[in-house]
Amino acid sequence: MAEQKSIRLELEDIQGGVLRPRPTPYAAAYILLRIDDRKAGRELMRRATDLVSSAASLSSPAGDAWIRVAVTFQGLKALGVPQASLASFAPEFQQGMAARAPELGDIGESAPVHWETPLGTPDIHVVLVAVAPNAERLERVLERGRNAYQQLSGLEVIWRQECYALPTEKEHFGFKDGISHPAVEGSGIPGSNPQEQPFKAGEFVLGYRDETGGFPPMPEPEAFGRNGTYAVFRKLHQRAAMFRQYLRANSSTPQQEELLAAKMMGRWRSGAPLALSPDNDNPELGANPTRNNDFLYADDPLGLKTPAGSHIRRANPRDASVAGAVRLHRMIRRGTAYGPPLPDGVVEDDGADRGIMFVFVGSHIKRQFEFVQSEWVNDSTFIGGSSEKDPVSGANDGAGVFTVPRRPVRRRLQGLPRFVVTRGGEYCFIPGLRALRWLADLRE
Ligand code: HEM
Repeated sequence: MAEQKSIRLELEDIQGGVLRPRPTPYAAAYILLRIDDRKAGRELMRRATDLVSSAASLSSPAGDAWIRVAVTFQGLKALGVPQASLASFAPEFQQGMAARAPELGDIGESAPVHWETPLGTPDIHVVLVAVAPNAERLERVLERGRNAYQQLSGLEVIWRQECYALPTEKEHFGFKDGISHPAVEGSGIPGSNPQEQPFKAGEFVLGYRDETGGFPPMPEPEAFGRNGTYAVFRKLHQRAAMFRQYLRANSSTPQQEELLAAKMMGRWRSGAPLALSPDNDNPELGANPTRNNDFLYADDPLGLKTPAGSHIRRANPRDASVAGAVRLHRMIRRGTAYGPPLPDGVVEDDGADRGIMFVFVGSHIKRQFEFVQSEWVNDSTFIGGSSEKDPVSGANDGAGVFTVPRRPVRRRLQGLPRFVVTRGGEYCFIPGLRALRWLADLRE
């Protein structure tokens, strides 16, 4: 325990966007660049060291507006990173997200052949993410970003996605998001569940011990890998009208619709957890950051309050008895919504593209993100072996099943369609600040 307490994270070398939660409300932009000229790419990395603030400046006045810079495996190759270093990266990062499609359930309409161009192609090299509390501050941050890459010939902006908090500050299915966050030892940022012990820093930043007691595999050389981490971004289209239609078709009153939505998510749309408010919504609880994540599942082994198959109980079973060590599969999420909201009461699809730019941050793409996606979201072996998938974000195909435990008899919903379609994404590495300089200083 003494060792846990004394851990010192080199915050001044870790990109700020890694550890710090996004502001609420927020405006964000994702900009993808291709490097056509290695020297221009290296110059961008040099300029990025000024652009990116460190996790040490978390409490500065401008601390809620920032840019994060990440590089894909193809990007590292375009920058001319030596082969020995390239080979030291995690294999799934080297393969890239499109190659991992079968493991991720990106099949059928979510398969890479249907992804938005250029997502899933080797052209994505650098990912710039700008986040701010409003559009005006975002524009100022973006201007600094543009100054860094615009006058450099040999760099091409190939894709861009704007994201804005919806007026309701909910995601497109109508739920409050961004509630549950792990605490990271040494970061100074508290987690949101007082009953969850802080996580070893190595779960989220390379160069420190993780929950296994060892060190996560770190890319070489140390000057490059240390204080870096992996990130996953996924553009997830949400079929909001279809979600509403499904709730309506399987309920006889608006109250039942809300209860069914809550059973699928594990929280009422207000954010209030079923674990603490199983029968009725409690908007005050949902809005209270000191209470809305203060719960475990051990008192609800049958899932009578929070179904074992609900989105949040799958994605983080907390202390529920499941196969596997829950603390090895926790993640930092940095999702932001894109696209216009579907107006209240509308149940017909208006054709608009809306969804979440889902972002994972962690030291282990495979045992954190890929494991949760494949074993917990898209399978049910860990909770007893049925063929059900996550009713909200799972790869259902129209024949999906969702069980709501109830007394005297459980309810089993049939015919779940796919509410979330993958539009593309990529695996990235977020270098530490010294590592950005290491990239800038690479020579032929
Ligand atoms: C469009 C797709 C998705 C939507 C609409 C969605 C929505 C939500 C919402 C509303 C919450 C509850 C708020 C909170 O606890 O912060 C949540 C929690 C969470 N989601 Fe998702 N999510 C989506 C996809 C995913 C995916 C793909 C993953 C991982 C592979 C994931 C992992 C998690 C995790 C780990 C939590 C926190 C659970 C907890 O600690 O209780 N989500 N999500």
